[in-house]
Amino acid sequence: MKKVRIALLGLGNVGRGVWRILNSNKEEIMKRSGYEVEVAKILVRDLEKERGVNTPREILTTNFEDIINDDSIKIIVEVMGGIEPAREYMLQSMDKKKHIVTANKMLLATGGDELFKKADSEGVMFHYEASVAGGIPIINGINESLTANKVEKLYGIVNGTTNYILTKMELEGLDFNEALREAQEMGYAEADPTSDIEGYDAQYKLAILSSLAFGTKIEVENVYREGITGIKSIDIEYAKEFKKVIKLLAIVKENDGKLELRVHPTMISKNHPLANVYDSFNAVFIRGNAVGDLMFYGRGAGDLPTGSAVVSDIVSILRNNMDIENLVPVLKNNLWNKEIKSINDIESKYYIRITVEDKIGVLGEVTSLFGEKNVSLLSVIQRGRDKEHDKKVTLVLVTHYTNEGNIREALKEIYKLDSIYKVNNIIRMEEFR
Ligand code: NAP
Ligand code: HSE
Repeated sequence: MKKVRIALLGLGNVGRGVWRILNSNKEEIMKRSGYEVEVAKILVRDLEKERGVNTPREILTTNFEDIINDDSIKIIVEVMGGIEPAREYMLQSMDKKKHIVTANKMLLATGGDELFKKADSEGVMFHYEASVAGGIPIINGINESLTANKVEKLYGIVNGTTNYILTKMELEGLDFNEALREAQEMGYAEADPTSDIEGYDAQYKLAILSSLAFGTKIEVENVYREGITGIKSIDIEYAKEFKKVIKLLAIVKENDGKLELRVHPTMISKNHPLANVYDSFNAVFIRGNAVGDLMFYGRGAGDLPTGSAVVSDIVSILRNNMDIENLVPVLKNNLWNKEIKSINDIESKYYIRITVEDKIGVLGEVTSLFGEKNVSLLSVIQRGRDKEHDKKVTLVLVTHYTNEGNIREALKEIYKLDSIYKVNNIIRMEEFR
């Protein structure tokens, strides 16, 4: 049996998952890859930290030089996260002809091109299946299995932390912060959970997926982003009334050669398969012009699911026998140039919750301002007075499909009305048409 020595950069949630899988599935990995995989070194910051895994003390190091200068190490598994020093370590590793596996979506989405080009020029393999949707084989799915298709639309629940929080709020009535704390304890959240709850993590993942699915380079700034911190339990209750659920969706659609790319909380029908994706599960729903609709579903975060994707990437490299002659270029994102739509040019239905003064004529003022901006309303709900503020009432409006620019124009005018206290929330409604 051939032996290969690898190094892990990081022994946190994902690193521990990788270590456990390499140990528990040793036999399967040997048979499938033709190699015995030895973890020769693991880079960490703190040698004394209690990690709950049986890594021998002598393979831990805080010095990257121990890894980069060891020519017997052939594969670098970057599971430390962040931009620097992860970027620099991967570039240096490729200089030394070491193959790379990474789970780092932030780095791939913001500076991936440099790494992909380096991998091409050095003739090393560069795999990143774990960077999107944890254990779901979506990168390979798009890169290998859907290449016969023109992808028309892609909708993803690609952040486990926010899906976990929304699930707990919807099904158990848990408060946002409590649900976030649980997601952190489970190892789903990023080191700084702002990335999850404000939608940056999903924005990175959508940039990566869209680059692959549409064969074009997507700059992360071109992906419109909103997180879930504005979602209140009252919005979840209204969604239930409409037989809908709220999910943080990553959406890309192509219309007339233009792409719209957006990440935001979205109300979707309870009957859609994505509505039943709960907990830390992720799903990616794709419409291809040949295959039709399909959905990939699985655990999107956590040590073992993510470790599963990382270890599969290691096995892919080994199966290729580390043979650079047979390399497929790592990212085909330069096939087409596509124009990106501004968020003002998209069309959607909208749920709008407003707090207004409870006085005669206010409803008429609001609805006529929407009318003036060509926004057609599907329904208006006005409930009794707010218990705490006896002069205020809540209006919930749902629009027909309309242009977002018109909605924004109408809201600018509505804000100016004396009888408006607050536009509390605006949530797009998706009908997958
Ligand atoms: P984590 O639990 O915070 O672990 C990070 C590890 O990297 C720790 O062991 C840390 O060492 C080490 N590290 C960080 N900076 C370092 C530095 N400058 N020098 C040496 N060691 C350093 O993170 P994680 O959740 O495993 O995530 C790792 C990567 O996988 C990130 O890119 C993340 O976005 C991605 N990812 C995570 C998940 C998930 O479910 N968690 C899923 C998919 C992808 P110490 O332990 O000594 O501090
Ligand atoms: N923090 C990420 C999530 C990890 O919650 O989905 C998986 O990429």
